[in-house]
Amino acid sequence: MSVAERVAVVGTGVIGTGWATLFLARGLDVVATDPADGAEARLREAVEEMWPTLTRLGVAEGASPDRLAFTPHLDVAVASASFVQENGPEQEDLKQRLFAAIDDAAPPGTVVASSSSGLMPSRLQAMSRRHPERVVVGHPFNPVHLIPLVEVVAGRATTPAAVDRAMAFYTAVGKHPIRVRQEIPGHVANRLQAALWREAYSLVDRGVAAVRDIDTAISNGPGLRWALLGPLMNQHLSGGPGGMAHLLEHLGPPAQAWMDDLGTPTLTPELAAKLVAGVDEELEGVDERRMAAQRDALLLDLLERKRDCPDLPGRPPHRGES
Ligand SMILES: NC(=O)c1ccc[n+]([C@@H]2O[C@H](COP(=O)([O-])OP(=O)(O)OC[C@H]3O[C@@H](n4cnc5c(N)ncnc54)[C@H](O)[C@@H]3O)[C@@H](O)[C@H]2O)c1
Repeated sequence: MSVAERVAVVGTGVIGTGWATLFLARGLDVVATDPADGAEARLREAVEEMWPTLTRLGVAEGASPDRLAFTPHLDVAVASASFVQENGPEQEDLKQRLFAAIDDAAPPGTVVASSSSGLMPSRLQAMSRRHPERVVVGHPFNPVHLIPLVEVVAGRATTPAAVDRAMAFYTAVGKHPIRVRQEIPGHVANRLQAALWREAYSLVDRGVAAVRDIDTAISNGPGLRWALLGPLMNQHLSGGPGGMAHLLEHLGPPAQAWMDDLGTPTLTPELAAKLVAGVDEELEGVDERRMAAQRDALLLDLLERKRDCPDLPGRPPHRGES
């Protein structure tokens, strides 16, 4: 599918930078905006730094970092956009004001998507008086230029046509979008992550495991399988020939007891300090930039290999496949 959208990227922090780089690599013209001092220089530097990775994934013909334009003025950035990806700070009142300003300046047919990690689109579109029907959440995962998932969520005023446009757009730029069927704080994937963080924080709080042990447990244990199968298909395979039904029959009751025993920690300043200290301890002797580069290189390998495994759930399509 070719991409014919003119894209505005609003907010160029961690997420906006990832989106801008991905859109440029897919051969789009991108106009970015951010009011912070030095934002343009930081964005251009980050795009250059990520470009070699995108080249390995395959950039579109004619794609270039030179097709990035920058303006500090939001209204100018969105005035000629057909798709807006908003990435401002995760504060509802600020986002609502941002959406009202985008609503005033963007052409009527423009889709306005928010990267919000957990805000509900009905709340985001509340101050969009002209065209609330084109507002969706299009929630990506960091690093945005590599992780395929985007959660697309409609608000009460969003039309199915806007959701369809967003789904088609994300697919065309090589993402793997899913349509979330009801708006709910945290959408789907962040709620699933929160379920795990909740117990991880609790285990650290209770002294059951150190931060490094939790990271080891997941990254060398179930996390390896989750990236290939998801948590539920993984359970099915753990059930042997009897599959999920057998698994739930014999391991369901103990799992229910574990679920009933899960902690409900409160993220107090003391607990936050314990978690930060645990991560600092885990990072001793580690070059953090190199660690992130190793993560990205392995992610690329994994994504490429997954394309050749047609039976894995949610396998990403080869470029050109629909
Ligand atoms: N960091 C993550 O892992 C992650 C993942 C997925 C989604 N998100 C979501 O993406 C959004 C951005 O998060 P982030 O991590 O990039 O935050 P960030 O703090 O790195 O970036 C936010 C950017 O918004 C800019 N900004 C502030 N006011 C603005 C305005 N009026 N107009 C335009 N830009 C403005 C800031 O200058 C900053 O550059 C949030 O909604 C967040 O929930 C974050």
